[in-house]
Amino acid sequence: MKNRTLLLTGASGYLGQHLALRAADAYDLYAAYGSNSAGITAGQPVQLDLSSREAVHQVIERLQPQAIIHAAAVNPGYGDATAMERINHQASRFVAEAAVRGGARLVCVSTDVVHSGHNAPYADDAAPTPLNDYGRTKAAGEAAVMEIDPSAAIARTSLIYGLERMDRGTESFVKRLESGQTLKLFRDVIRQPVWVESLAEALLKLVENDYAGTLNVVGRQVLNREEFGRRMLTFWGVAVDERVQSGLGADISNTIPLDLRLTYSKAEQLLQLPLYGVDEVLAMASPS
Ligand SMILES: NC(=O)c1ccc[n+]([C@@H]2O[C@H](COP(=O)([O-])OP(=O)(O)OC[C@H]3O[C@@H](n4cnc5c(N)ncnc54)[C@H](OP(=O)(O)O)[C@@H]3O)[C@@H](O)[C@H]2O)c1
Repeated sequence: MKNRTLLLTGASGYLGQHLALRAADAYDLYAAYGSNSAGITAGQPVQLDLSSREAVHQVIERLQPQAIIHAAAVNPGYGDATAMERINHQASRFVAEAAVRGGARLVCVSTDVVHSGHNAPYADDAAPTPLNDYGRTKAAGEAAVMEIDPSAAIARTSLIYGLERMDRGTESFVKRLESGQTLKLFRDVIRQPVWVESLAEALLKLVENDYAGTLNVVGRQVLNREEFGRRMLTFWGVAVDERVQSGLGADISNTIPLDLRLTYSKAEQLLQLPLYGVDEVLAMASPS
């Protein structure tokens, strides 16, 4: 019994699986999932359909967690605009209401995609200018949380990757290559990928902190999607041959935000945490 209780939504997801392992060291952890109970890595599994306001209120009232990390979301490729609205916006509202009612510290996970990519680099408190449904619904979720619980912290993050489990993006690239198709990696899509271990630590530090508002939590190395994709494919031992090609996101769609550089020094100072860049993380994994 560790006495301090934490509810993690999205515990069965990519971030959640890593975060749960760390969180369970310090807290009595309630690991909330929607449908994927097999994805729970640590803590007490709790089934919770976030689309139901009643269920969210009931479960949080019953468990009375002292803190909540809200990491569940419908990401691009995992649901349509309606599902994104229901979870990324409305469910965030329900979680914030229940957190306020139960007096729980609330930390939410948001995204760099709340920005258009037209005015980088973005400050921690830059107003959202989303271009697509994912960005719009995540921005609406942020706004609902801040309206209901102004003391909440919202971490805006970027492409999440780890070296123990393949990230979702790389997984989709591998599937494409395995099915015999070519792969276009966008050189005009600029991001600051974040190591899942840094992000997990930052979120746990935010729980212990009284920071309120949005905070950029991204890796300190700026890479384009092609550079990042090639590094990850190589790390996972996938042959990067002529089937992996360079392309432009702007040629595919005008709703892909291109330049999403975010300032990150505030998070490093506040949380006393190095936000390692991809090459630093890769070097740590295979010291020469
Ligand atoms: N992945 C990235 O590169 C990235 C980049 C920027 C920001 N983010 C943000 O980081 C957070 C974590 O992302 P992730 O990639 O780790 O997510 P993920 O792997 O796609 O997992 C999504 C999680 O949300 C849960 N969920 C979805 N709908 C639900 C519902 N109706 N009821 C209960 N739970 C539901 C899923 O539970 P079940 O599967 O059990 O149903 C799962 O645990 C999200 O807030 C996302 O917006 C991610």
